[in-house]
Amino acid sequence: MFLLTALLAAGIFGVAQAGEGSVAQAGEGSDPESFNSLYAPAYRLPDPAGMSAAAASGKELVHSTYKYLGAQSAPRAANGLPYVGNKLACTSCHLGDGTQPNASPLIVVAKKYAAPGIFSPRENALRDVPVRVNGCFERSLAGEALPVDSTWMTDIEAYLDFLATGIQPGYTYKQVPAQMYPAVAKLTRAADAVRGAEIYQDNCKSCHQEDGSGVWLDGEDRYRYPALWGTNSFGLMSGMGRLSTTATMIHGTMPRDKVDVMDVSTRLSQMDAVDVSAYLLSKSHPYNERFVSDWSGVGPSGMPNWLTRDSSASYDFTMPRSDAGVATDDPAMPPMFTREQHIYGPFQPIDAALKAARNARGYP
Ligand code: HEC
Ligand code: HEC
Repeated sequence: MFLLTALLAAGIFGVAQAGEGSVAQAGEGSDPESFNSLYAPAYRLPDPAGMSAAAASGKELVHSTYKYLGAQSAPRAANGLPYVGNKLACTSCHLGDGTQPNASPLIVVAKKYAAPGIFSPRENALRDVPVRVNGCFERSLAGEALPVDSTWMTDIEAYLDFLATGIQPGYTYKQVPAQMYPAVAKLTRAADAVRGAEIYQDNCKSCHQEDGSGVWLDGEDRYRYPALWGTNSFGLMSGMGRLSTTATMIHGTMPRDKVDVMDVSTRLSQMDAVDVSAYLLSKSHPYNERFVSDWSGVGPSGMPNWLTRDSSASYDFTMPRSDAGVATDDPAMPPMFTREQHIYGPFQPIDAALKAARNARGYP
């Protein structure tokens, strides 16, 4: 029964799945009908038969990003570096080629980031679809931004446009459920990487391996089980580099073979997701210094961006600074919190200091 659903899923939706990997991954809740029942009534995955050639190529890029744009393939950015700096693909984190509910699906992105885009205080810029996609190229994939007029980018946009045609008449993208990863409450203690190591042994090692290097599908230039740390893993300057986001991704999707999208009781507990995230973040990841200026500048409301920054951080530990216990951005003052607290928490004191600083300036 499980296997039958799996074969049907692969057949109907035509997900390009690979060798052994297809057996392991199918039956793990990747059935488009269960996805549709979660997205109903606002959204329904469009029939893949209606995909243009450009959209099909965009889907392939999402599925095997490293294969086409990584170090071993010819394309290079103007600075000579590959567009994908690690060995991941978009689908490593946006499961089911961006269709799986509660796995940061890419189904409404074309509408959500329609021009002129959404302001991001981290980038101090409006992000439309290509800018948002390039955010994941530069940060999650530890690589370089694609030229916005390149065929790679326009194909990815065509795939995102195709997915967004599934928004049903009478509904807006905001009404589509199961977007993003599921929320995880911040612990009031620091996340515990030692406890996380035990959770890793019991729940993750079988696929991602003892040393976190994952399992590579030779001949396909993609992972069967992606690397979780080391040079081929997610960049620290990405959402996955922040414990608060890593935990939501893991809570919503991992262990891959246990989480049934239809049954939230199959998820790893929130506390286990937080502690195993701490274990992943205690290991090394790619980092690019070009992101030291994150959260600088002033937003459209006139509020300095640092006041809205995420307390959970993996590379920028200096903000807020402390002027006799009051949060400030004055570069002459010392950091208010330690590096460890920004990585592992507890985050409530950092959030409280930032809120007090906002309130003192008349912002909520
Ligand atoms: C290492 C994991 C990872 C990889 C690989 C990755 N992303 Fe992301 N992506 C994220 C995270 C984390 C978020 C933020 C989700 C959240 O805040 O819940 C995100 C957000 C996005 C968003 C915005 C989604 C929304 O609803 O606002 C888009 C679009 C996106 N990614 C596209 C891509 C594309 C295209 C690729 C491949 C080129 C890619 N991502 C690769 C982790 C990743
Ligand atoms: C049955 C195999 C399996 C198990 C067990 C498993 N994963 Fe995964 N994991 C995958 C696959 C496969 C992907 C890539 C997504 C896809 O292809 O659907 C992935 C992706 C990820 C990612 C995002 C991509 C990246 O490289 O950063 C993280 C983080 C992750 N897993 C963490 C975990 C953690 C933590 C556990 C244990 C709690 C776990 N996984 C257990 C198979 C597994």
